[in-house]
Amino acid sequence: MTQTTIAVLVGSLRRESINRKLATALARLAPSDVIFTQLEIGDLPLYDQDDDANQADSVKRLKSELLAATGVLFVTPEYNRSVPGVLKNAIDHASRPYGKSAFAKKPAGIIGASPGAIGTALGQQHLRNITAYLDMPTLNQPEAFVQAKDDLFDADGNIGEGSRKFLQGWVDAYVAWVKKHAA
Ligand code: FNR
Repeated sequence: MTQTTIAVLVGSLRRESINRKLATALARLAPSDVIFTQLEIGDLPLYDQDDDANQADSVKRLKSELLAATGVLFVTPEYNRSVPGVLKNAIDHASRPYGKSAFAKKPAGIIGASPGAIGTALGQQHLRNITAYLDMPTLNQPEAFVQAKDDLFDADGNIGEGSRKFLQGWVDAYVAWVKKHAA
């Protein structure tokens, strides 16, 4: 059986991140031939174009992990109605040097959770601008703007019953999208 591998970029570094928990719980909804791996982005330096010809080891690692993956899943909070700087920093690193992006043609999914009522909708829209420029075929529908309420997760960290059917449908659609666009 061929394995499909999904590189997961979580746009929050905080220990109790809702979005990291969401990324972990979503992976549990995937079929067994699909492996989700959360990539480290907290150790990347601030992007500096002067370093393009001499990328840090952490940047090289991130790029090779992305290049090896079948698809990329962004699970991110919305910061000030946009993408958190830590995620944008990782994207800028992995998209460079010019012509050597690790993202081109990788099928993408975008999802995020926030305690707020619009559940990262505006941050996701900004991210769609970015994935379009990066030439990533990005799942348009279904959209998933997750409002993080107390029952989003059960005691074991799985998606709670109230959201499970909807998010199972989202994962199924994303996995089908990745398989359809696999190189
Ligand atoms: C936020 N938060 C937030 N929420 C939102 O719905 N829209 C927004 O624009 C913002 N802006 C914002 C900026 C900054 C700098 C912070 C620190 C937070 C609140 C945010 O959704 C909340 O802190 C989440 O818990 C962050 O996600 P993680 O870290 O739990 O995954």
